[in-house]
Amino acid sequence: MSTDIAKFNAAQAALAYIKDGMVVGLGTGSTSAYFVRLLGDKVRQGLRVKGVPTSEATRNLAEQVGVPLIEISQVSAIDVDVDGADEVDPQFRLIKGGGGALLREKIVAAASKQMVVIADEGKWVETLGAFPLPVEVTRFGFALTSERIHEALAATGCEGAEVSLRVAGKANEPVITDGGNYIIDAHAKRIPDADALGAALKNIAGVVEHGLFLNLAHVVILGKAKGADVKTL
Ligand code: A5P
Repeated sequence: MSTDIAKFNAAQAALAYIKDGMVVGLGTGSTSAYFVRLLGDKVRQGLRVKGVPTSEATRNLAEQVGVPLIEISQVSAIDVDVDGADEVDPQFRLIKGGGGALLREKIVAAASKQMVVIADEGKWVETLGAFPLPVEVTRFGFALTSERIHEALAATGCEGAEVSLRVAGKANEPVITDGGNYIIDAHAKRIPDADALGAALKNIAGVVEHGLFLNLAHVVILGKAKGADVKTL
């Protein structure tokens, strides 16, 4: 419950970054959902924005709460992207993709002039890696790709790392992303060199994208039980 209040407070503080006429990236996850609802309230009060959703779930929510949307193919840049995170370190490096939306989230973040991360303060970590790192992979050859991911983890100093295919439901069916791919969760435990791991993962055939967001975030808003801490690099 207190985590929900912290998420809400982070989302509310992010509204300060939204100005009339902006194109806004709309993140995915429970914290982003608070933001999309709050943005819907502002739109009803007269704010003019256009949202670029990072998942079908966020598209549906934005439509429900009345945030006008625009396709990413119709914009040359996004003014500000507001999105959640699973972990944030002091260099504003992120693990994202706990909700499986990392591919569209990264495309939107990379296309944005400013990325504002909203999270409850429990997401702040000294070193990334306790949260399993999601890696989106093609279904074709996923078992081999998974082995290569395991090797990349070992080669970049993630000792004792394990990998698992993300499954859900009673039948343990593989989770399929909005892009039609699978997710391999890399249980790194500790990622001593995020840049090296990110580069190694990008180099594996079959890896579509990984959930390390490096050099993308500009502002981190950490929600607390009361208010929020706004951090800039
Ligand atoms: C979605 O794929 C993720 O990147 C989310 O942004 C992340 O998991 C944070 O989610 P919560 O806001 O629900 O914690």
